Amino acid sequence: MKDIIILGIESSCDDTSAAVIRNGVLLSNVVASQAVHEAYGGVVPELASRAHQQNVVPVVHEALKRAGIAKEQLSAVAFTRGPGLMGSLLVGVSFAKGFARALGIPLIDVNHLHGHVLAHFIDEEGGENVHPQFPFLCLLVSGGNSQIVLVKAYNQMEIIGQTIDDAAGEAIDKAAKVMGLGYPGGPVIDRLARQGNPKAYRFAKPHIAGYDYSFSGLKTSFLYFLRDRLKDEPDFIEQHKEDLAASLEATVVEVLMDKLRKAAKDLHIKEVAVAGGVSANNGLRNAFHDYAHRYGWKVYIPKLGYTTDNAAMIGIAGYFKYQNKEFCTIDLPAYSRVEL
Ligand code: KG4
Repeated sequence: MKDIIILGIESSCDDTSAAVIRNGVLLSNVVASQAVHEAYGGVVPELASRAHQQNVVPVVHEALKRAGIAKEQLSAVAFTRGPGLMGSLLVGVSFAKGFARALGIPLIDVNHLHGHVLAHFIDEEGGENVHPQFPFLCLLVSGGNSQIVLVKAYNQMEIIGQTIDDAAGEAIDKAAKVMGLGYPGGPVIDRLARQGNPKAYRFAKPHIAGYDYSFSGLKTSFLYFLRDRLKDEPDFIEQHKEDLAASLEATVVEVLMDKLRKAAKDLHIKEVAVAGGVSANNGLRNAFHDYAHRYGWKVYIPKLGYTTDNAAMIGIAGYFKYQNKEFCTIDLPAYSRVEL
């Protein structure tokens, strides 16, 4: 049987990435991150698209080189169509269209969120390669999303709960910014939290019906708490940053896990995965192991390299679509907002 070799391209936010997947096995995954945004405390869309422009050709070149694959061997090009920043998406989308057209091979559009979920199916040479069994629940948590996804098949996903305001990563990043920890604050909060007391402070937890989330109240509660404490103790943040980080992280993790447990219980599902940038968080990862133990869940936690944006997940999603001949036409537009 002829090999199926997919080039994946991801450019939805501030990471330019290309990956090569052969018959579902990852051969290379190159990610160029953009440090330029750190100075601004968040991603600057115009700077992001310019950096993608500079990075996309060398990143694709490097991915093919590391994979030992000539471009003529490719079966198809899979790209992130959305959701994401329009200017960033357009760079990857335009490159993918031009490249596929020049090579005379099919184009495959991938929903970025599908990619995050399907990252659990990336096989590595010599790896353990265990995958969730359908149907499973996936907690998708990133800077832009907080969702509980019911995954019935590779191409059948349903959002059963999601945030009605801020995403979990956004709330953590904003709290970190208030603490003067820079951007993105998630990894710093994680590091500090490991040395702090998660029960030191209590912050407001939302009361939302069903499986939906809300994180804007927590953000405000954190802000007001700091404002009050700083009145009496101007160096309060510096003196208590570990406890603040640990308590904030514990609240976010508790909120995320409470709803996930409710969904798993109601739907009688014990296969539970986590995906997206915030799945790198150690507190959340520990909670997954704890819940596996307590509730008999089989949990799937991605390798760190697959938590943040990467093209390997786009490549694997493209691989599944290729098998069903789900190709797209060259006039397909990018979408800044798309549901699962
Ligand atoms: O999926 P992702 O790379 O892309 C966006 O949605 O933008 O997620 C980025 C988010 C940011 O909010 C970042 O602070 C958060 O993931 N993040 C973390 C950790 N690593 C990244 N949050 C908590 N702990 C971490 N270790």
